[in-house]
Amino acid sequence: MNFGQALEKLKAAGQEHALKYYDELTDEQRESLLAQIEETDFSVLASFEKNKEGAQRGKITPLSVMQLSQIKERKEEFDQIGLDAIKKGKVGAVLLAGGMGTRLGTDDPKGVYNIGITKEVYIFQRLIENLFDVVNRAGAWIPLYIMTSDKNHETTVRFLEEHDYFGYNNEYVSFFMQEMAPGCDFNGKVYMEEKWKISISPNGSGGWYSSMHKWGVAEKMMKDGVEWLNVFAVDNVLQRIADPCFVGAVLANGCTSGAKVVRKCAPDERIGVICLEDGKTSIVEYYELTDELMNAKDENGDPAYYFGVILNYLFKVEELEKIRDKNLPLHMAEKKIPYLNGKGEKVKPEVPNGYKFEQLVLDMVREMGSCIPFEVVRNKEFAPIKNATGIDSVESARKLCQENGIEL
Ligand code: UTP
Repeated sequence: MNFGQALEKLKAAGQEHALKYYDELTDEQRESLLAQIEETDFSVLASFEKNKEGAQRGKITPLSVMQLSQIKERKEEFDQIGLDAIKKGKVGAVLLAGGMGTRLGTDDPKGVYNIGITKEVYIFQRLIENLFDVVNRAGAWIPLYIMTSDKNHETTVRFLEEHDYFGYNNEYVSFFMQEMAPGCDFNGKVYMEEKWKISISPNGSGGWYSSMHKWGVAEKMMKDGVEWLNVFAVDNVLQRIADPCFVGAVLANGCTSGAKVVRKCAPDERIGVICLEDGKTSIVEYYELTDELMNAKDENGDPAYYFGVILNYLFKVEELEKIRDKNLPLHMAEKKIPYLNGKGEKVKPEVPNGYKFEQLVLDMVREMGSCIPFEVVRNKEFAPIKNATGIDSVESARKLCQENGIEL
C-alpha cells in the first residue's frame, strides 16, 4: 500500500491523523505504518456511534440453573460419563491468555504473575496443577490449546518452555494467536502508540475459535478426535479445568454447551449474568446490566438474575463448526490506552481515556443451541485476579487459595 492509498483508506474511516508524523519517519518506519494501515480493519470504529447508545438486546427473562443439590444427586453418573470422554481423548482445554490484564497493571502476560508468598507460584503453574488433578484421575493427557496475542505470545511461550510446562507433556500443548483491533478516544479517533504505529490491542475473547482455525490448530484438534472444548480464563487460579462432573452433566443432558456459574455475591458484582434472551440461554455482561435487571426479583423475592458466569464453558466442536463464521456482537469497553500526546510524547493514562472493541466468548453461548448452566461452589472454584489489590485481586485470590489448602 502506498501513501495515497493509505490516506484514502484512513479518510474513509475518518482517521487520517494517523499519518500526522509521516514526514518525520524513517523509510523503515513509513513502511511499517503503511503495512499496518493496510492490514487494519477500521470497520469496528464505524460501529462507535451505534455502540455508544448501548447494545441492542432481545427480551431478557430469568433462567433456571442446574444447582448444587441437583448436581450432587447425579454426581457419580456425571463423573463417570465425563471421565470416560476424557479417557477417550474427546475433551480438550482452551486457555484464553491473550488479554492485556491492564487492571492488574503488569506489562507481562497475566499467567507469568507470581502469586506465591513463601515460594514461587505462577498463575500458569496453578492452572496446570489443577489440570493435572484430572489428568491423574483419568490417566490420560488432555490437549491444552493456549491463545496468546501479538502483545504477549513470545513471552508466554518462552516462560512455559523455561519452566518445562510445569511438568505437563508439551506434546499436548499448542499455541495460537488471536486477532488485534484498533481502539479509539472518546470521539472515535484512533490513538497512536508510536509515530509509526496505530494503537491496537487484542480483539477480545470471542474470536478464539476462528483463530484456532487460522493457525491450523482446530484442524489438528479435530483429527485427534477432540469433540468437546473446555474454554477458560487465565486469571481464575482456582479454575477447575476439564472437570469430569461438568463434562458429564452436559453430555448426559444432550446439550451442545455448558457454562459454569456461581451465585453472585452482590447485585452489582462485576460478572456476566446468565439469563434467557428471546428464549435462548444468553449472558449479559456486568457493564451492560441495567439497574432494572440488577434489582429484579423472582416470585419468591430472591434476585431474579442471581447466577453469574466465571468464564468456564464447555462447547461441542461439531456445533462450533456451524457458528464459526458468525459475527458476534461488538462490545465497547472503556479502557486506559497508552498514547502519544500532541507533542508526540508517550502517555500512560491513569484513568480510562477511550474505548476498545471486543467480541466476547460469552456471546457464543446464545449461538450454541442449548446450554446447561452448571452451578459450582464459589469459594472452591472462583478466585479471579483482575486487580492488584481489593476485590478480585491478588490479595483475595491468595486468601481463597489458602482456604482451599493450596500452599503459597
Ligand atoms: P478480561 O476481560 O479480564 O480482560 O479477560 P483482560 O484483558 O485480561 O484484563 P483487563 O480488562 O485489561 O484488566 C478475561 C479472559 O479473557 C482473556 C483474558 O486473557 C482472560 O483470560 N482475553 C481477554 C483474551 O484472551 N483476549 C482478549 O482480547 C481479551
